[in-house]
Amino acid sequence: MSELISGKAVSKLVLRQVRAGVETLKAHGITPGLGIIRIGNNPASEVYVRTKLKKAKKQGMNAKLLQLGDDATHEQVMALVDQMNQDPAIHGFIVQLPLPKQVDEDVVLKAVLPEKDVDGFHPYNLGLLMTGEPAFVPATALGVMSLIDSTGVDIKGKQAVVVGRSNIVGKPTAMMLLHRHATVTICHSRTTNLKEQVARAEILVVSVGRANVIPGEWVRPGAIVIDVGINRTADGKLTGDVDFEGAKERAGFITPVPGGVGPMTVAHLMENTVRAASIQSGIRIDG
Ligand code: GUN
Repeated sequence: MSELISGKAVSKLVLRQVRAGVETLKAHGITPGLGIIRIGNNPASEVYVRTKLKKAKKQGMNAKLLQLGDDATHEQVMALVDQMNQDPAIHGFIVQLPLPKQVDEDVVLKAVLPEKDVDGFHPYNLGLLMTGEPAFVPATALGVMSLIDSTGVDIKGKQAVVVGRSNIVGKPTAMMLLHRHATVTICHSRTTNLKEQVARAEILVVSVGRANVIPGEWVRPGAIVIDVGINRTADGKLTGDVDFEGAKERAGFITPVPGGVGPMTVAHLMENTVRAASIQSGIRIDG
């Protein structure tokens, strides 16, 4: 039997720090501002965006939403990015993904000013992450690391396997594990021996976006299992990428879905926004 890692509990600790940072900045006359650009009517995005706006306000920050419909042109989206870039009340902003197909995502993400890129998706910030001197790290990767750290297990020297190679989760998470001296393997859709790779993992991070891609019996006994997937089953329930019921019999620590990585992504986005406001204003928030 494994120990459940509660994203709700760990995210509260991150948010407590966020609130302290907001209070320090406010005492100096700066209210951190988070902007969100949402394009189209993706129902999952709507829920995520609403949650992020609500959480920002709850921490005492300003939150601003700019949105357009599914038929927005690339140029219209670029104009919103420009507006956020130039807004002095916005210290950091994100463009909620996915974008409609007529909008060039790469071009849009590169147009975000790196110092306001609190999603950490700009190639400049991803490049800094590669060199080990990160500025803004994607919030989900930060969340995965906080959850692993909450177990008290030392990452150094561990066999870590990351399943999924997206720019926003898999690759940045693998890079952070590498910086913490894990031996890291990245698996993906063309990996031919996924089962063998998973069976080696002392730390397993799964971010594929498909329910039950990792059967419980593949999990190495005692492993830390972080399930980033959020999938909806036929009966409308949320479920992760890992067969939770099977995996929890073998893992040492495991995250639930929902209530695992999800709250962490939101909390670390708030943390990145407070950092952006601190850097831009020159007001230190760390002690
Ligand atoms: N879509 C799914 N996850 C994310 C995220 O972390 N940030 C943004 N901007 N879009 C997403």
